[in-house]
Amino acid sequence: MNRVLVTGADGSIGRAAVSGLQAAGYDVAGLSLRYDHASTANRALVGDARSATDVSAALDGVDAVLHLAAIPHPSLGTPEEVFENNVAATFNVLAQAGQQEVRRAVIASSINAFGVPMNVNDVEPAYYPLDEEVEADIADAYSLSKSVDEQSARMAWRRWGTDVIALRFPLVKAREELLRFAAMAERDPSIMAREGWAYLDLRDGVRAIIAALESPVPGAHVVGLAADDILIDRQTDELLRKYAPDVPLRQAVEGRGSLVDTSRARELLGFAPEHSIHDQAVSAMTR
Ligand SMILES: NC(=O)c1ccc[n+]([C@@H]2O[C@H](COP(=O)([O-])OP(=O)(O)OC[C@H]3O[C@@H](n4cnc5c(N)ncnc54)[C@H](O)[C@@H]3O)[C@@H](O)[C@H]2O)c1
Repeated sequence: MNRVLVTGADGSIGRAAVSGLQAAGYDVAGLSLRYDHASTANRALVGDARSATDVSAALDGVDAVLHLAAIPHPSLGTPEEVFENNVAATFNVLAQAGQQEVRRAVIASSINAFGVPMNVNDVEPAYYPLDEEVEADIADAYSLSKSVDEQSARMAWRRWGTDVIALRFPLVKAREELLRFAAMAERDPSIMAREGWAYLDLRDGVRAIIAALESPVPGAHVVGLAADDILIDRQTDELLRKYAPDVPLRQAVEGRGSLVDTSRARELLGFAPEHSIHDQAVSAMTR
């Protein structure tokens, strides 16, 4: 496997994934509705991930597909636009890949697939650490689209035998941007409590993508991801006592320990995060 199609190639994860894959030796075709940034992709194609014609042409000669194209937040469109774009794009990409015998796909799901973080009602997770089985409670079109995408992945495995890994990304940003989110969350920790103050450094996001593309594991799998610690520079149990005192904690966490169970990522993909905003903050200060 050495040729990969990346949809959403002009997005923030997409651009990093294109160059990360190229650095790892892959030949990369990109697909995007438009390009606001210069693309390093070997072939930068303009097209709609919902179009059978565009995707089928983009898949020509490709061994695997990384599907990132989506409207990444419920506020970036009407509920109808967000749901239709995301679900139709994922189904179409998996359907064209299946029909063209591209048998490996990695798709972007989200920590929001279980619906609680963006829920407009006063809800809480059933437990921490969050894992891939935590009960869904969905009240917005974006979270629903990601939950349906995970079902589409399972269908693609059953119907076409495509191996699909759906990565549940938490907040994934480059370090500078993570620091801005961290400052915001420090001011009001309640805003990220329902996603367990989870984040992932963009470099680890790209490493997880490559690990998923290269994983020999057959079938369709949902895989939760997060850094080993939380975004905020406080003790996790202290935050929980204040902001989620009624949510059962199934496993003790130490220090700034993460509230996402990433054992499946470790077991299935051999992936473990390498970057923490806190470690780097300390080393930057001591340099
Ligand atoms: N960045 C995060 O924190 C985060 C967290 C969880 C999940 N995700 C998911 O990861 C993926 C990438 O996110 P991102 O942060 O890079 O978003 P982004 O908005 O930066 O990139 C998405 C790209 O997809 C393109 N796109 C949208 N619909 C398309 C379509 N129908 N056809 C072709 N291109 C289309 C957009 O033009 C954009 O360039 C998304 O699926 C998002 O839902 C991101």
